[in-house]
Amino acid sequence: MAFTITKAVIPAAGLGTRFLPATKAMPKEMLPVVDKPAIQYVVEEAVNAGLTDVLMVTGRNKNALENHFDHNNELEATLKAKGDTERLKKVNYSTELADMHYVRQGNPLGLGHAVLRAKMHVGNEPFAVLLGDDIIDSRDVLLSRMLEVQAARDASVVALLEVDPSQTHMYGIATVEETDEDDVVRITGMVEKPPPGEAPSNLAIIGRYVLMPEVFRILERTEPGRGGEIQLTDALQTMAQVPEATGGVYGVVFRGRRYDTGDRADYIKAIVQLAVDRDDLGEELRPWLKDFVGTLD
Ligand code: UTP
Repeated sequence: MAFTITKAVIPAAGLGTRFLPATKAMPKEMLPVVDKPAIQYVVEEAVNAGLTDVLMVTGRNKNALENHFDHNNELEATLKAKGDTERLKKVNYSTELADMHYVRQGNPLGLGHAVLRAKMHVGNEPFAVLLGDDIIDSRDVLLSRMLEVQAARDASVVALLEVDPSQTHMYGIATVEETDEDDVVRITGMVEKPPPGEAPSNLAIIGRYVLMPEVFRILERTEPGRGGEIQLTDALQTMAQVPEATGGVYGVVFRGRRYDTGDRADYIKAIVQLAVDRDDLGEELRPWLKDFVGTLD
């Protein structure tokens, strides 16, 4: 019988340099997307896919992240006294979402290094990794499909997105073979941020992974790669090359909406796209947005 995955690891210890100075004293994962910090969307996605145990890998400025998923007694008492039950519900929602755990990364030596910090907590079972600055629209399905593929193939699974060839140098890019399922490919190779024109495909690895625990053993032996960082992509490349020892790596091709909130332009697009569809904001925003677009050249 397949193992039921319950653990999610959320790396949120990066420096967020693309968003300075906003991220000088606050993690980029706490930037609000409409009225919730980006990280809350990510935790909600994990919980909606059935993952109840969340380990967040944090760095300096971790307090805001921990506080967001904890009680704020003063605020709760004030809202209670005012009888503002609607806001009280919103404030308490993040506190009750999941069984939250935290580990510090120390130095941000790369995504692979951040994931390795989860080894003790995860133990010898498959687990999911969700990047704290990557939002998948909750109307589209990704993580539960990846969990399904992991269970069926007993292998590691990454999420892939077709990107424009001009964008491949910003992502880890996969070399793939087709499988008997339309949205699933077998990964034969991976390269982190290939120089323009040298990408093996236009299938970019985005911030969702379901990994076999063997990844820890491989990460321990992975040397710093591109940018001097310990790259998760390099460890996955090793796993893809020795499928007999690691189960190999598959990709689920995602065709839905994804927002990279660590990128300024994508962050703004995320807010606009999510806000116009909201019941409480859309009615006011849609006509304003149309008018505004009319004023542009
Ligand atoms: P990014 O490369 O987008 O994060 O990592 P960054 O380094 O903070 O971003 P910039 O380029 O400086 O703006 C993707 C995810 O991995 C986490 C980040 O927090 C983000 O969620 N990460 C990255 C870590 O947890 N530790 C690291 O050492 C690096």
